[in-house]
Amino acid sequence: MNSKTRFSFLLSLLFLSTLSGGWSAARADEVKGKSLYANLCVRCHGVDGRGQGVMKFNPPVADLTEPAVQGKLDATLMREIHDGRKNTAMGTWKFLLSDDEIRDVTGYLRTLGSGSRVPSP
Ligand code: HEC
Repeated sequence: MNSKTRFSFLLSLLFLSTLSGGWSAARADEVKGKSLYANLCVRCHGVDGRGQGVMKFNPPVADLTEPAVQGKLDATLMREIHDGRKNTAMGTWKFLLSDDEIRDVTGYLRTLGSGSRVPSP
């Protein structure tokens, strides 16, 4: 690799990492996410995310710990929170939460899945 190709290679790496930062909860602030969750999501999704909140709905509240949910990409979960789910009690959060807050709460959702994420030291 000559120095010019190496430079553009590094540049595209840099570009890709900024891009992925926008669509992943890897850099989410889980502490902030936890308090958002406790304030906004807990009444339906329950303390542990299993959908055992005080409010019941039809269709029922999603169990956020199950592999079907935890297996989704961060970007997918963030979109679901952003836009809500049509014809369900899961409303859109885009008017209430900033993109950063949606990322933080998604980061917190990852901690609810059993063993889906190695806790950071
Ligand atoms: C009023 C009750 C209610 C509140 C409040 C609520 N949800 Fe939900 N949520 C639901 C229901 C019901 C579903 C299942 C929707 C469906 O069947 O598609 C759901 C589904 C979801 C899903 C999709 C799971 C999947 O199947 O992929 C995510 C993610 C989610 N909620 C996150 C959140 C977060 C984060 C908050 C807080 C910011 C929140 N919800 C607040 C009722 C609620």
